[in-house]
Amino acid sequence: MANDPIYPALVTDALAMVRYPGTGRSIIEQEMLADDIRIAGNTVSFSLVFDKATDPFKASLLKAAKAAVERAAPGADVTVNAIVRQGVPAPEKAPVLPGVKNIIAVSSGKGGVGKSTVAANLAVALAAEGYSVGLLDADIFGPSLPKMFGLESTELYMHEVDGRNLIIPAEAYGVKVLSIGFVIDPSSAAVWRGAMASNALRQLIEQADWGELDYFLIDMPPGTSDIHLTLVQTLALTGAVVVTTPQKVAIADARKGIAMFRDSKINVPVLGVVDNMAWFTPEKHPDERYYLFGDDANVDALAGEYDVPVLARIPLVASVGEHSDSGRPVATEATASAAAFMHLAHELIDAVDRRNSELPPTAKVEVR
Ligand SMILES: Nc1ncnc2c1ncn2[C@@H]1O[C@H](COP(=O)(O)OP(=O)(O)OP(=O)(O)O)[C@@H](O)[C@H]1O
Ligand SMILES: [Mg+2]
Repeated sequence: MANDPIYPALVTDALAMVRYPGTGRSIIEQEMLADDIRIAGNTVSFSLVFDKATDPFKASLLKAAKAAVERAAPGADVTVNAIVRQGVPAPEKAPVLPGVKNIIAVSSGKGGVGKSTVAANLAVALAAEGYSVGLLDADIFGPSLPKMFGLESTELYMHEVDGRNLIIPAEAYGVKVLSIGFVIDPSSAAVWRGAMASNALRQLIEQADWGELDYFLIDMPPGTSDIHLTLVQTLALTGAVVVTTPQKVAIADARKGIAMFRDSKINVPVLGVVDNMAWFTPEKHPDERYYLFGDDANVDALAGEYDVPVLARIPLVASVGEHSDSGRPVATEATASAAAFMHLAHELIDAVDRRNSELPPTAKVEVR
């Protein structure tokens, strides 16, 4: 015996009799019926939409809906699916460092080549040029900026900005400074698990009042590490500056550092390399140059290989290290090395401008 034809209103009328126990209202009133009713001969299928996958009434409601349609269309083959409503989109997360124009990682392949010295003096030189500058010490295993800026006894305070409690960066030589060394005891850093270190670092970025900055410099740990990954996932870096010395071993490691930023998954533009300790100049004979670690050709070859500029060559001068140790970056004084850092600042400004006019903003690396 042929059944009466099934038509959509038969289904919706039947479902109008089924109540959602949570509210007592019908499935139709509740707008739980999806827009996908299919009727083909004797078979009917449709879906009910639930707000949550864990709706406590889901199973009983699917059953009740099926039974109601089967009653209205005896002999029909009824299938009811459950759809979970695409969650109301979560409010957009506050953008990270909204007031910061350029974020630059100061990195190296090898440790001890002068990353922190370059980052600190570059920051001071940029600030001396009138730019607003922030400097973050991300080297969890050897934070050295507190000492270089004479900020070892810094205690961090927080204040409220737009309803959020934010860490106030320390300030020295016109530069806003935060160091992982302010929040962890460096001697215990080695036992910090990667995730703890990454979280602490993210806090110093996201929960600090960096305000409006022209340049935000990050003193990176040496090599390639979890911290590098955390940073490219947290921040859209404008670019990276890679510091090396002319020594072959340092250059070999710098190559790895450049390759990491160039990796297609990371994709951070390398703005240039800095040739640190390019030559030794005795304080008393400022015109003399002694190439202790190799000549300019070594770093030139590296830069040529990756088609990036050598932004500056910084001489090895005793006062650079002495100043760092005494908490006064050398770029604050009128010396030959200060001039080299000032030159670096100007080259960096140009390199950043070129990058910003030629390339779109860097995308953050998505966490999978
Ligand atoms: N141009 C320079 N002239 C003299 N001394 C320098 C120069 N650059 C760096 N130094 C000294 O070399 C040492 C290492 O420098 P720095 O701490 O900046 O290196 P780094 O790459 O940050 O090291 P790490 O990998 O440990 O973080 C320090 O004692 C510093 O004072
Ligand atoms: Mg360092």
